[in-house]
Amino acid sequence: MGRDAWYGRDVLSILDFSRADLELLFDSADSIVDQPVRTKKSLAGKIVATAFFEPSTRTRLSFSAAALKLGADVIDLSPDVSSLLKGESLSDTMRMLDGYADLIAMRHPSEGAALLASEVASVPIVNGGDGSQHHPSQAMLDLFTVKRLKGRIDGLNYAVLGDIRYARSAASFLYGLARYKPGKVSLVSPESLRPRNEVKDTIKKVGLKTEQHDDLESIIADVDVIYMTRIQKERFPDPNEYEKVKGSYRITKGSLANAKKGSIVLHALPRTNELAYEVDSLPNAAYMKQARFGVPVRMALLDLVLGGAKK
Ligand code: NCD
Repeated sequence: MGRDAWYGRDVLSILDFSRADLELLFDSADSIVDQPVRTKKSLAGKIVATAFFEPSTRTRLSFSAAALKLGADVIDLSPDVSSLLKGESLSDTMRMLDGYADLIAMRHPSEGAALLASEVASVPIVNGGDGSQHHPSQAMLDLFTVKRLKGRIDGLNYAVLGDIRYARSAASFLYGLARYKPGKVSLVSPESLRPRNEVKDTIKKVGLKTEQHDDLESIIADVDVIYMTRIQKERFPDPNEYEKVKGSYRITKGSLANAKKGSIVLHALPRTNELAYEVDSLPNAAYMKQARFGVPVRMALLDLVLGGAKK
């Protein structure tokens, strides 16, 4: 157990990891944050490939930065100038990367793409988001941010806001919370953005109790962690449905006026108009720190998956 539980493993869903696995990751990320200057390059000689078939700023670049900081080299598949344009399949493409790299971090619009890649590749696959359910490393860094800023994950009250229907960051965060003992977990969204049945069923199966609310106002005084999401415009099957809900929720300085003292606002980013820029100057704004924690958490993850037994 311990580091062995991580070594050589695919990271497809946060549900594949136990609380003890997550705690090990967070302890390791803690020591990276606390000792940012590292002399040991634990991944020297390794190659990490990034293969992102959907837009990404934070996930792709923080995986690259994390790999480089650990001494690995990074190669990047740019789908728009790759042989995918000549009709090469996803599985052939991943087979090629398997021969060139020691680990592949990937993102794809279709759910199951990371699982498919893990079946054709012998090297570990890290899912940087596929479809609208799984984004494990995001959930890991989100939980790490809570632990780091609030000192614990257990016992806090959470409100997950917005597009809980299509935002994989929201679903994965809820799955991650299920490994802990949170206080109240409130889902706040208009009717049409409530979780899909598969997500609802999974939440139930993993034993996470949630409450549904229509607005944040009525519960905000009691919430420790506000988890905000962008409306996932690109995942709406019907643009008219998007038009109906766009702008239906927004966090501003005003909406945080009654927020609990010490509460934090998280957002996986990018934001559109659901999170006002004026919130950035409030002490509650934690999303920029959260994005920065992407590097140490992904360093810890890459080190655990690729680095082998403790040196
Ligand atoms: C998220 C994603 O791609 O799921 N972004 C990220 O990884 N930080 C959130 C989003 O796109 O809204």
